[in-house]
Amino acid sequence: MKVLAIMGSPVRKRNNEALLSSVLNGLRSEHPAPEKIDVQLFCASSLKVSPCIACDRCARVKGCIFEDDMQTLYKEFESSDVIIITSPLYFNSVSAQLKAVIDRCQAIWSSKYALKDSMISQEKKRFGLFISTAGVDLKDDPDLFLGTLPIMDLFFKSIHTEYVGNLFVGNVDQVPVLENEKSIKDGFRWGQKLYKHACS
Ligand SMILES: Cc1cc2nc3c(=O)[nH]c(=O)nc-3n(C[C@H](O)[C@H](O)[C@H](O)COP(=O)(O)O)c2cc1C
Repeated sequence: MKVLAIMGSPVRKRNNEALLSSVLNGLRSEHPAPEKIDVQLFCASSLKVSPCIACDRCARVKGCIFEDDMQTLYKEFESSDVIIITSPLYFNSVSAQLKAVIDRCQAIWSSKYALKDSMISQEKKRFGLFISTAGVDLKDDPDLFLGTLPIMDLFFKSIHTEYVGNLFVGNVDQVPVLENEKSIKDGFRWGQKLYKHACS
């Protein structure tokens, strides 16, 4: 089983990474030989990914004009069974680093719909989870993460991945994920669920 994880927070070892670790722990807990699960973890802020410049070349020639780390991610999208994306909520949206990655999936979109020669195989099954954290408490604003949903929906559609669900945790600036046992347990359960999806 191959797992791709993209950490959208520019801050390491904080809330996004803690939730991601709990999901990966849950996923590994289901496998008889956890070391056999191939996990590729990328931090969006450490990647060299130019923002899309809408040159429209991908609507004429398959692929993206930019030769940067996105070329690696295109291959990872293709070969992964489980794709986990995380982002802190920034101005009700995803982080700029993650958005740059998402916008560059326009090349995949164009290959499917303009060129009718998809960069990503549409037969392979892939399962996706979105993790996001926010400063505001979900109790104060139950619609807190609403703005991220259509973004992630379109993203997962573009990479031909079934969008299985979301793990949203608010109030992280007051109660960090590492001190929030429930959110760690929720993450673990999401990992178990993803494993079952990928094995079904
Ligand atoms: C630029 C910026 C914008 C933010 N915008 C929001 C927001 O719109 N809503 C919110 O609840 N929290 C907002 N926050 C708080 C972050 O979502 C919160 O600190 C983050 O989820 C922490 O994740 P991390 O520790 O993994 O980086 C913002 C923080 C920053 C730095």
